[in-house]
Amino acid sequence: MGPVRVLELYSGIGGMHQALTESCISAEVVAAVDVNTVANEVYKYNFPSTPLWAKTIEGITLAELNRLSFDMILMSPPCQPFTRCV
Ligand SMILES: C[S@@+](CC[C@H](N)C(=O)[O-])C[C@H]1O[C@@H](n2cnc3c(N)ncnc32)[C@H](O)[C@@H]1O
Repeated sequence: MGPVRVLELYSGIGGMHQALTESCISAEVVAAVDVNTVANEVYKYNFPSTPLWAKTIEGITLAELNRLSFDMILMSPPCQPFTRCV
């Protein structure tokens, strides 16, 4: 079996990718997706060989997902709309 094929959503500057690397699991991030242009610049600096899709996840088509043939999704969605200080 080859490396685990990972789709990284809300990739930001690549924290999940870095954690995956440090886990020593045999894996390849086949695509990273984030809409923030500044975060994407940092991601490209950190992981220049990873395909980075600068778009919203809502804009990913089923065909694009199927082409990736991924085994696992890593993601850290934005928390602001869902968390609050009581
Ligand atoms: C909690 S941060 C991700 C942190 C990331 N794990 C890192 O190491 O930087 C959430 C990210 O989601 C992105 N984001 C928010 N809504 C999005 C959407 N609809 N499609 C794609 N990215 C989105 C933001 O630009 C932000 O970078």
